[in-house]
Amino acid sequence: MWLRALRLENFRNYESLELELAQGLNFFSGPNGSGKTSILEGVSYLAVARSLRGSNDGEVGRWGEGGFGVGGDVVTGERSSTVVLRFSKAAGKEVTVDGEPLAKLSDLVGVLRVAWFCPEDTWITKGQPAARRKLIDLTLCQLDPAYLSSLTGYRRTLRQRNEALLTWTPDEESDRIVEVWTERLVEYGSAVVAKRLEFVPRFSDAVSQYQSFVAAGDTLSLRYRSSVPLGDDATGAEGRSLEQDDVAEKYREALESRSEDERRRGFTLVGPHRDDLDVRLNGRVLRTFGSQGQHRTAAIALKLGEAAVLDSDGQGVVVLLDDILSELDDERAGALIDLVGGHGQALMTSTRPMAGAAAEDAAGFVVEAGKVERQ
Ligand SMILES: Nc1ncnc2c1ncn2[C@@H]1O[C@H](COP(=O)(O)OP(=O)(O)OP(=O)(O)O)[C@@H](O)[C@H]1O
Ligand SMILES: [Mg+2]
Repeated sequence: MWLRALRLENFRNYESLELELAQGLNFFSGPNGSGKTSILEGVSYLAVARSLRGSNDGEVGRWGEGGFGVGGDVVTGERSSTVVLRFSKAAGKEVTVDGEPLAKLSDLVGVLRVAWFCPEDTWITKGQPAARRKLIDLTLCQLDPAYLSSLTGYRRTLRQRNEALLTWTPDEESDRIVEVWTERLVEYGSAVVAKRLEFVPRFSDAVSQYQSFVAAGDTLSLRYRSSVPLGDDATGAEGRSLEQDDVAEKYREALESRSEDERRRGFTLVGPHRDDLDVRLNGRVLRTFGSQGQHRTAAIALKLGEAAVLDSDGQGVVVLLDDILSELDDERAGALIDLVGGHGQALMTSTRPMAGAAAEDAAGFVVEAGKVERQ
Protein backbone atom coordinates (compact mmCIF):
# COMPACT_ATOMS: atom_id res chain seq x y z
CA MET A 1 0.00 0.00 0.00
CA TRP A 2 1.08 3.56 -0.53
CA LEU A 3 -0.37 7.04 -0.25
CA ARG A 4 -0.97 8.68 -3.61
CA ALA A 5 -2.57 11.92 -2.40
CA LEU A 6 -2.79 13.80 0.87
CA ARG A 7 -5.29 16.55 1.70
CA LEU A 8 -5.17 18.77 4.77
CA GLU A 9 -7.84 21.24 5.84
CA ASN A 10 -7.35 23.65 8.74
CA PHE A 11 -4.59 21.36 9.94
CA ARG A 12 -1.76 23.12 11.87
CA ASN A 13 -0.57 26.00 9.66
CA TYR A 14 -2.30 24.62 6.53
CA GLU A 15 -5.56 26.20 5.58
CA SER A 16 -5.97 23.89 2.63
CA LEU A 17 -3.38 21.62 1.06
CA GLU A 18 -3.57 19.06 -1.73
CA LEU A 19 -0.47 16.99 -2.49
CA GLU A 20 0.28 14.32 -5.06
CA LEU A 21 2.92 11.99 -3.64
CA ALA A 22 5.38 9.68 -5.35
CA GLN A 23 5.53 5.96 -4.65
CA GLY A 24 9.21 6.07 -3.63
CA LEU A 25 10.98 8.77 -1.66
CA ASN A 26 9.28 12.13 -1.09
CA PHE A 27 11.59 14.80 0.25
CA PHE A 28 10.22 17.92 2.00
CA SER A 29 12.65 20.73 2.63
CA GLY A 30 11.99 24.12 4.16
CA PRO A 31 12.89 26.40 7.06
CA ASN A 32 12.00 25.81 10.72
CA GLY A 33 8.33 26.27 11.43
CA SER A 34 7.26 26.06 7.76
CA GLY A 35 5.04 22.98 8.14
CA LYS A 36 7.17 19.92 7.33
CA THR A 37 6.43 17.81 10.39
CA SER A 38 2.75 18.70 10.08
CA ILE A 39 2.61 16.88 6.73
CA LEU A 40 3.90 13.67 8.33
CA GLU A 41 1.53 14.21 11.23
CA GLY A 42 -1.36 14.43 8.77
CA VAL A 43 -0.33 11.07 7.30
CA SER A 44 -0.27 9.56 10.79
CA TYR A 45 -3.94 10.48 11.18
CA LEU A 46 -4.78 8.44 8.10
CA ALA A 47 -3.02 5.38 9.53
CA VAL A 48 -3.77 5.39 13.26
CA ALA A 49 -6.41 8.13 13.56
CA ARG A 50 -4.21 10.24 15.81
CA SER A 51 -1.08 12.33 15.93
CA LEU A 52 2.17 10.39 16.12
CA ARG A 53 3.84 13.64 17.13
CA GLY A 54 2.05 13.04 20.42
CA SER A 55 -0.38 15.96 20.27
CA ASN A 56 -4.05 15.94 21.24
CA ASP A 57 -6.64 16.33 18.50
CA GLY A 58 -7.59 19.71 19.95
CA GLU A 59 -4.07 21.08 19.40
CA VAL A 60 -3.82 20.05 15.78
CA GLY A 61 -6.63 22.10 14.25
CA ARG A 62 -5.61 25.42 12.84
CA TRP A 63 -5.74 28.18 15.43
CA GLY A 64 -9.14 29.85 15.55
CA GLU A 65 -10.91 26.96 13.74
CA GLY A 66 -13.27 24.49 15.39
CA GLY A 67 -11.73 21.39 13.86
CA PHE A 68 -9.74 19.91 11.00
CA GLY A 69 -9.86 17.42 8.18
CA VAL A 70 -7.30 15.00 6.72
CA GLY A 71 -7.87 12.99 3.59
CA GLY A 72 -5.86 10.61 1.47
CA ASP A 73 -5.97 8.18 -1.41
CA VAL A 74 -4.43 4.86 -0.44
CA VAL A 75 -3.38 2.56 -3.25
CA THR A 76 -3.29 -1.18 -2.52
CA GLY A 77 -2.41 -3.31 -5.52
CA GLU A 78 -4.89 -2.30 -8.21
CA ARG A 79 -7.33 -0.74 -5.79
CA SER A 80 -7.49 2.79 -4.50
CA SER A 81 -9.51 3.86 -1.49
CA THR A 82 -10.17 7.28 -0.07
CA VAL A 83 -9.81 7.80 3.66
CA VAL A 84 -11.23 10.93 5.26
CA LEU A 85 -10.88 11.85 8.92
CA ARG A 86 -12.70 14.81 10.40
CA PHE A 87 -12.40 16.22 13.87
CA SER A 88 -14.44 18.92 15.51
CA LYS A 89 -14.57 19.81 19.17
CA ALA A 90 -18.34 19.43 19.08
CA ALA A 91 -18.68 16.14 17.18
CA GLY A 92 -15.35 14.44 17.94
CA LYS A 93 -13.58 12.25 15.40
CA GLU A 94 -15.16 10.55 12.45
CA VAL A 95 -13.52 8.44 9.74
CA THR A 96 -14.91 7.37 6.40
CA VAL A 97 -13.40 4.96 3.90
CA ASP A 98 -14.79 5.47 0.40
CA GLY A 99 -17.60 7.49 1.91
CA GLU A 100 -18.66 4.78 4.38
CA PRO A 101 -18.37 5.85 8.04
CA LEU A 102 -16.40 3.43 10.22
CA ALA A 103 -18.28 2.16 13.27
CA LYS A 104 -15.08 2.24 15.34
CA LEU A 105 -11.81 4.08 14.77
CA SER A 106 -10.05 0.73 15.21
CA ASP A 107 -11.65 -0.42 11.94
CA LEU A 108 -9.08 1.79 10.24
CA VAL A 109 -6.34 -0.69 11.20
CA GLY A 110 -4.53 -2.07 8.19
CA VAL A 111 -5.78 0.45 5.62
CA LEU A 112 -2.50 2.37 5.77
CA ARG A 113 0.50 1.42 7.89
CA VAL A 114 3.17 3.88 8.95
CA ALA A 115 6.49 3.81 10.78
CA TRP A 116 7.39 7.22 12.24
CA PHE A 117 10.94 8.18 13.06
CA CYS A 118 12.21 11.43 14.57
CA PRO A 119 15.37 12.48 16.46
CA GLU A 120 13.66 12.18 19.86
CA ASP A 121 13.35 8.45 19.18
CA THR A 122 16.84 8.12 20.64
CA TRP A 123 14.81 8.00 23.85
CA ILE A 124 13.48 4.60 22.88
CA THR A 125 16.54 2.90 24.30
CA LYS A 126 17.54 5.59 26.80
CA GLY A 127 14.27 6.54 28.42
CA GLN A 128 11.58 4.97 30.54
CA PRO A 129 9.98 1.58 29.73
CA ALA A 130 6.82 3.40 28.55
CA ALA A 131 8.66 4.51 25.39
CA ARG A 132 9.56 0.93 24.54
CA ARG A 133 6.07 -0.37 25.31
CA LYS A 134 4.72 2.33 23.00
CA LEU A 135 6.95 1.11 20.18
CA ILE A 136 5.68 -2.45 20.57
CA ASP A 137 2.06 -1.34 20.94
CA LEU A 138 2.07 0.97 17.95
CA THR A 139 3.51 -1.72 15.73
CA LEU A 140 1.26 -4.51 16.95
CA CYS A 141 -1.87 -2.33 16.85
CA GLN A 142 -1.24 -1.63 13.17
CA LEU A 143 -0.77 -5.32 12.43
CA ASP A 144 -3.56 -6.80 14.48
CA PRO A 145 -6.96 -5.25 15.27
CA ALA A 146 -7.50 -7.89 17.99
CA TYR A 147 -4.40 -6.62 19.78
CA LEU A 148 -5.72 -3.07 19.66
CA SER A 149 -9.01 -4.11 21.22
CA SER A 150 -7.29 -6.17 23.96
CA LEU A 151 -5.00 -3.25 24.75
CA THR A 152 -7.89 -0.78 24.88
CA GLY A 153 -9.83 -3.18 27.12
CA TYR A 154 -6.80 -3.63 29.35
CA ARG A 155 -6.26 0.10 29.81
CA ARG A 156 -9.91 0.70 30.62
CA THR A 157 -10.03 -2.19 33.09
CA LEU A 158 -6.77 -1.12 34.70
CA ARG A 159 -8.23 2.31 35.43
CA GLN A 160 -11.33 0.74 36.95
CA ARG A 161 -9.35 -1.74 39.02
CA ASN A 162 -7.04 1.00 40.28
CA GLU A 163 -10.08 2.99 41.29
CA ALA A 164 -11.42 -0.02 43.19
CA LEU A 165 -8.05 -0.55 44.91
CA LEU A 166 -7.83 3.11 45.86
CA THR A 167 -11.25 3.07 47.54
CA TRP A 168 -10.81 -0.43 48.97
CA THR A 169 -11.82 -1.02 52.60
CA PRO A 170 -11.31 -4.31 54.51
CA ASP A 171 -14.72 -5.85 53.86
CA GLU A 172 -16.21 -8.51 51.61
CA GLU A 173 -17.97 -6.13 49.27
CA SER A 174 -14.75 -4.24 48.54
CA ASP A 175 -12.88 -7.49 47.93
CA ARG A 176 -15.61 -8.70 45.60
CA ILE A 177 -15.41 -5.56 43.48
CA VAL A 178 -11.62 -5.84 43.17
CA GLU A 179 -12.00 -9.51 42.23
CA VAL A 180 -14.42 -8.72 39.40
CA TRP A 181 -11.91 -6.31 37.89
CA THR A 182 -9.05 -8.75 38.50
CA GLU A 183 -10.70 -11.39 36.33
CA ARG A 184 -11.22 -8.97 33.46
CA LEU A 185 -7.73 -7.58 33.85
CA VAL A 186 -6.30 -11.09 33.59
CA GLU A 187 -8.36 -11.80 30.50
CA TYR A 188 -7.27 -8.68 28.60
CA GLY A 189 -3.77 -8.54 30.07
CA SER A 190 -2.91 -12.13 29.19
CA ALA A 191 -4.02 -11.53 25.59
CA VAL A 192 -1.75 -8.48 25.42
CA VAL A 193 1.26 -10.26 26.94
CA ALA A 194 0.85 -13.43 24.84
CA LYS A 195 0.86 -11.35 21.64
CA ARG A 196 3.85 -9.31 22.76
CA LEU A 197 5.75 -12.52 23.59
CA GLU A 198 5.03 -13.88 20.16
CA PHE A 199 5.97 -10.58 18.52
CA VAL A 200 9.25 -9.70 20.23
CA PRO A 201 11.39 -12.54 18.78
CA ARG A 202 10.14 -11.62 15.29
CA PHE A 203 10.92 -7.99 15.97
CA SER A 204 14.33 -8.91 17.36
CA ASP A 205 15.17 -10.85 14.19
CA ALA A 206 14.17 -7.92 12.01
CA VAL A 207 16.19 -5.47 14.11
CA SER A 208 19.28 -7.66 14.05
CA GLN A 209 19.17 -7.54 10.24
CA TYR A 210 19.98 -3.84 10.46
CA GLN A 211 23.15 -4.29 12.39
CA SER A 212 25.25 -2.82 9.64
CA PHE A 213 23.96 0.40 11.13
CA VAL A 214 25.17 -0.50 14.54
CA ALA A 215 28.97 -0.38 14.56
CA ALA A 216 30.44 -3.36 12.72
CA GLY A 217 30.62 -6.53 14.78
CA ASP A 218 28.00 -5.39 17.27
CA THR A 219 24.90 -7.41 17.91
CA LEU A 220 21.62 -5.94 18.97
CA SER A 221 18.95 -8.13 20.51
CA LEU A 222 15.59 -7.67 22.17
CA ARG A 223 14.02 -9.49 25.04
CA TYR A 224 10.61 -8.97 26.59
CA ARG A 225 10.79 -8.34 30.31
CA SER A 226 7.53 -9.19 31.98
CA SER A 227 6.47 -7.98 35.42
CA VAL A 228 4.60 -11.29 35.67
CA PRO A 229 7.10 -14.09 36.38
CA LEU A 230 6.69 -16.30 33.30
CA GLY A 231 9.64 -18.66 33.59
CA ASP A 232 13.01 -18.41 31.91
CA ASP A 233 12.17 -19.78 28.50
CA ALA A 234 9.24 -17.48 27.76
CA THR A 235 10.85 -14.16 26.97
CA GLY A 236 14.16 -14.77 25.20
CA ALA A 237 14.81 -14.08 21.56
CA GLU A 238 14.83 -17.81 20.83
CA GLY A 239 12.45 -18.76 23.60
CA ARG A 240 9.08 -20.27 22.84
CA SER A 241 6.14 -18.01 23.37
CA LEU A 242 3.45 -18.95 25.87
CA GLU A 243 -0.20 -19.55 25.11
CA GLN A 244 -2.63 -17.00 26.47
CA ASP A 245 -4.03 -19.51 29.00
CA ASP A 246 -0.58 -20.13 30.48
CA VAL A 247 0.04 -16.40 30.73
CA ALA A 248 -3.39 -15.91 32.36
CA GLU A 249 -2.63 -18.51 35.01
CA LYS A 250 0.70 -16.94 35.86
CA TYR A 251 -0.77 -13.44 35.82
CA ARG A 252 -3.53 -14.50 38.24
CA GLU A 253 -0.91 -16.01 40.56
CA ALA A 254 1.23 -12.87 40.42
CA LEU A 255 -1.74 -10.64 41.28
CA GLU A 256 -2.69 -13.01 44.09
CA SER A 257 0.78 -12.85 45.59
CA ARG A 258 0.77 -9.03 45.50
CA SER A 259 -2.82 -8.60 46.62
CA GLU A 260 -2.04 -7.27 50.11
CA ASP A 261 0.52 -4.89 48.72
CA GLU A 262 -1.92 -3.66 46.08
CA ARG A 263 -4.67 -3.00 48.60
CA ARG A 264 -2.27 -1.08 50.80
CA ARG A 265 -0.79 1.00 47.99
CA GLY A 266 -3.99 1.46 46.03
CA PHE A 267 -2.95 0.49 42.50
CA THR A 268 -2.15 -2.47 40.26
CA LEU A 269 1.45 -3.59 40.62
CA VAL A 270 1.84 -6.22 37.91
CA GLY A 271 0.79 -6.51 34.31
CA PRO A 272 1.70 -5.43 30.79
CA HIS A 273 1.55 -1.75 31.85
CA ARG A 274 4.71 -2.35 33.90
CA ASP A 275 6.60 -4.50 31.42
CA ASP A 276 9.68 -3.54 29.46
CA LEU A 277 11.68 -4.41 26.41
CA ASP A 278 15.37 -5.02 27.08
CA VAL A 279 17.50 -3.74 24.25
CA ARG A 280 20.90 -5.34 24.47
CA LEU A 281 24.03 -4.38 22.62
CA ASN A 282 26.52 -7.23 22.69
CA GLY A 283 24.58 -8.77 25.53
CA ARG A 284 24.45 -5.70 27.77
CA VAL A 285 21.40 -3.56 28.40
CA LEU A 286 21.94 -0.45 26.29
CA ARG A 287 19.92 1.83 28.56
CA THR A 288 22.50 1.72 31.33
CA PHE A 289 25.76 2.00 29.41
CA GLY A 290 25.09 3.16 25.84
CA SER A 291 26.90 6.16 24.38
CA GLN A 292 24.97 8.86 22.47
CA GLY A 293 25.98 7.35 19.16
CA GLN A 294 25.07 3.82 20.27
CA HIS A 295 21.61 4.96 21.32
CA ARG A 296 21.17 6.73 18.00
CA THR A 297 22.22 3.80 15.83
CA ALA A 298 20.21 1.34 17.94
CA ALA A 299 17.15 3.56 17.55
CA ILE A 300 17.63 3.50 13.77
CA ALA A 301 17.93 -0.28 13.77
CA LEU A 302 14.78 -0.54 15.90
CA LYS A 303 12.85 1.76 13.60
CA LEU A 304 14.00 -0.02 10.45
CA GLY A 305 13.10 -3.30 12.15
CA GLU A 306 9.67 -1.88 12.88
CA ALA A 307 9.20 -0.93 9.23
CA ALA A 308 10.35 -4.40 8.15
CA VAL A 309 7.93 -6.13 10.52
CA LEU A 310 5.07 -3.91 9.38
CA ASP A 311 5.92 -4.86 5.82
CA SER A 312 6.55 -8.55 6.52
CA ASP A 313 3.35 -9.67 4.80
CA GLY A 314 4.28 -7.60 1.74
CA GLN A 315 1.44 -5.12 2.34
CA GLY A 316 3.83 -2.18 2.39
CA VAL A 317 4.43 0.53 4.93
CA VAL A 318 4.88 4.28 4.59
CA VAL A 319 8.04 5.33 6.41
CA LEU A 320 7.87 8.83 7.91
CA LEU A 321 11.32 10.24 8.68
CA ASP A 322 11.18 13.58 10.43
CA ASP A 323 14.35 15.64 10.38
CA ILE A 324 16.72 12.76 10.97
CA LEU A 325 19.37 13.47 8.35
CA SER A 326 20.85 16.25 10.47
CA GLU A 327 21.63 13.59 13.08
CA LEU A 328 23.63 11.39 10.74
CA ASP A 329 26.89 11.61 8.85
CA ASP A 330 26.65 11.54 5.04
CA GLU A 331 27.50 7.87 4.73
CA ARG A 332 24.87 6.75 7.26
CA ALA A 333 22.31 9.14 5.79
CA GLY A 334 22.89 7.66 2.32
CA ALA A 335 22.70 4.10 3.61
CA LEU A 336 19.51 4.89 5.50
CA ILE A 337 17.85 6.33 2.42
CA ASP A 338 18.79 3.20 0.47
CA LEU A 339 17.38 0.94 3.16
CA VAL A 340 14.21 2.94 3.45
CA GLY A 341 13.85 2.81 -0.31
CA GLY A 342 13.63 -0.98 0.04
CA HIS A 343 10.29 -0.61 1.85
CA GLY A 344 8.52 1.35 -0.82
CA GLN A 345 7.19 4.77 0.06
CA ALA A 346 8.92 7.20 2.39
CA LEU A 347 8.27 10.82 3.36
CA MET A 348 11.33 12.60 4.66
CA THR A 349 11.78 16.13 5.98
CA SER A 350 14.83 18.32 6.35
CA THR A 351 15.67 21.99 6.78
CA ARG A 352 18.39 21.44 4.21
CA PRO A 353 17.83 21.01 0.47
CA MET A 354 17.83 17.54 -0.95
CA ALA A 355 21.31 16.35 -1.91
CA GLY A 356 23.29 13.23 -2.78
CA ALA A 357 22.39 10.13 -4.70
CA ALA A 358 18.88 9.93 -3.26
CA ALA A 359 17.98 13.27 -4.79
CA GLU A 360 18.00 11.83 -8.30
CA ASP A 361 15.10 9.47 -7.71
CA ALA A 362 13.17 11.39 -5.12
CA ALA A 363 10.18 13.65 -5.53
CA GLY A 364 11.22 16.99 -4.03
CA PHE A 365 8.89 19.47 -2.32
CA VAL A 366 9.67 22.90 -0.92
CA VAL A 367 7.68 23.92 2.13
CA GLU A 368 7.25 27.59 2.98
CA ALA A 369 4.81 29.00 5.55
CA GLY A 370 2.01 26.50 5.04
CA LYS A 371 2.43 26.23 1.25
CA VAL A 372 4.06 23.33 -0.55
CA GLU A 373 5.51 23.36 -4.04
CA ARG A 374 6.73 20.44 -6.09
CA GLN A 375 10.30 21.03 -7.27
N1 LIG B 1 -2.73 24.46 15.68
C1 LIG B 1 -1.98 25.24 14.92
N2 LIG B 1 -2.53 26.18 14.11
C2 LIG B 1 -1.78 26.97 13.34
N3 LIG B 1 -0.43 26.91 13.26
C3 LIG B 1 0.16 25.99 14.05
C4 LIG B 1 -0.56 25.12 14.91
N4 LIG B 1 0.32 24.30 15.54
C5 LIG B 1 1.53 24.67 15.10
N5 LIG B 1 1.46 25.69 14.22
C6 LIG B 1 2.54 26.34 13.48
O1 LIG B 1 2.69 25.61 12.30
C7 LIG B 1 4.02 25.71 11.81
C8 LIG B 1 4.49 24.40 11.27
O2 LIG B 1 4.91 23.53 12.27
P1 LIG B 1 5.80 22.25 11.91
O3 LIG B 1 6.11 21.61 13.20
O4 LIG B 1 5.12 21.45 10.87
O5 LIG B 1 7.09 22.94 11.28
P2 LIG B 1 8.41 22.27 10.70
O6 LIG B 1 8.53 22.71 9.28
O7 LIG B 1 8.42 20.82 10.97
O8 LIG B 1 9.51 23.02 11.55
P3 LIG B 1 10.92 22.49 12.15
O9 LIG B 1 11.90 22.49 11.02
O10 LIG B 1 11.25 23.56 13.15
O11 LIG B 1 10.68 21.18 12.76
C9 LIG B 1 4.82 26.31 12.93
O12 LIG B 1 5.13 27.64 12.59
C10 LIG B 1 3.89 26.27 14.13
O13 LIG B 1 4.10 27.34 15.00
MG1 LIG C 1 9.57 19.68 12.24
